[in-house]
Amino acid sequence: MTETLRGRLSAAEAELRAAGIPTARVDAEWLLAGLLGVGRAALRLDLDRVLPGAVTRRYAAAVRRRAGREPLQRILGWEEFRGLRLRLTPDVFVPRPETEVLVEWALALLPAPCGGARPLAIDLGTGSGCVACALAAERPDLAVLAVDASPAAAAVARANARALGLGGRVRVVAADLLDPLGAPGAALVVSNPPYLPSGLVPSLDPEVRRHEPRAAIDGGPDGLALIRKIAAAARRALAPGGVLALETAAGAQARAAAGLLAAAGFAGVALRDDLTGATRFVAGRA
Ligand SMILES: C[S@@+](CC[C@H](N)C(=O)[O-])C[C@H]1O[C@@H](n2cnc3c(N)ncnc32)[C@H](O)[C@@H]1O
Repeated sequence: MTETLRGRLSAAEAELRAAGIPTARVDAEWLLAGLLGVGRAALRLDLDRVLPGAVTRRYAAAVRRRAGREPLQRILGWEEFRGLRLRLTPDVFVPRPETEVLVEWALALLPAPCGGARPLAIDLGTGSGCVACALAAERPDLAVLAVDASPAAAAVARANARALGLGGRVRVVAADLLDPLGAPGAALVVSNPPYLPSGLVPSLDPEVRRHEPRAAIDGGPDGLALIRKIAAAARRALAPGGVLALETAAGAQARAAAGLLAAAGFAGVALRDDLTGATRFVAGRA
């Protein structure tokens, strides 16, 4: 078997395709680029390069993991979210591009910086800390409280905030959604909670079903269990006029969540689509 980049990439692509991965070529390239510490484009300029044996063995191990349907980002150990590089472990949900739209909308709904006291934003179910860190990075006037029920996830979020130089404004606590939320007068509560109906979990792709933390994806019998709790908790945590912005499952669940927010007393409840045109975000004002 040839040990050139070209040969290794072709072999890895074939292995990943046989494992049922539709993005086999791109994943093969990402895994090799990650090992070599270069971008994917750089690989294509150097296809006749011969790989050292140690790199070849590490690459084979990484490809085997991906063929076992471990998420690409987990094997790489990081994902980019709104321009920030977040470190990932098996304890945290892999950040998704649609959640970047949630952050964008939440930022648009916040009042502009006014030079007074720091507004508080709360990220419920922070996972890797991607939402909390993006909010803090993009609005330097904000203080952010990031909450996760999983102490292991909270530790990852804390480490990410520190590594990004945001540790001074992102406080991470391990707690049930409701615990730290007295009446802090927050300007924003944002959450990408677990929202899949439990019965759907066994039919999900192996990357999600086998490798994402169950507590990050399972939203109870109708998927709305956490969303109901968040609506109530956010009403107590928000200052008058403060914003609750949520990610939900696409379509009917988003509309159901809008009904829950209205029933909890939120005003101006609105829905927003993700980049594929599916209605997936809901927001309202306390
Ligand atoms: C879908 S993940 C979202 C992670 C991250 N915010 C993101 O968008 O990538 C949901 C997160 O909510 C956390 N979670 C689930 N139930 C919770 C609860 N009752 N209180 C706090 N966090 C909870 C999970 O541990 C998980 O990290």
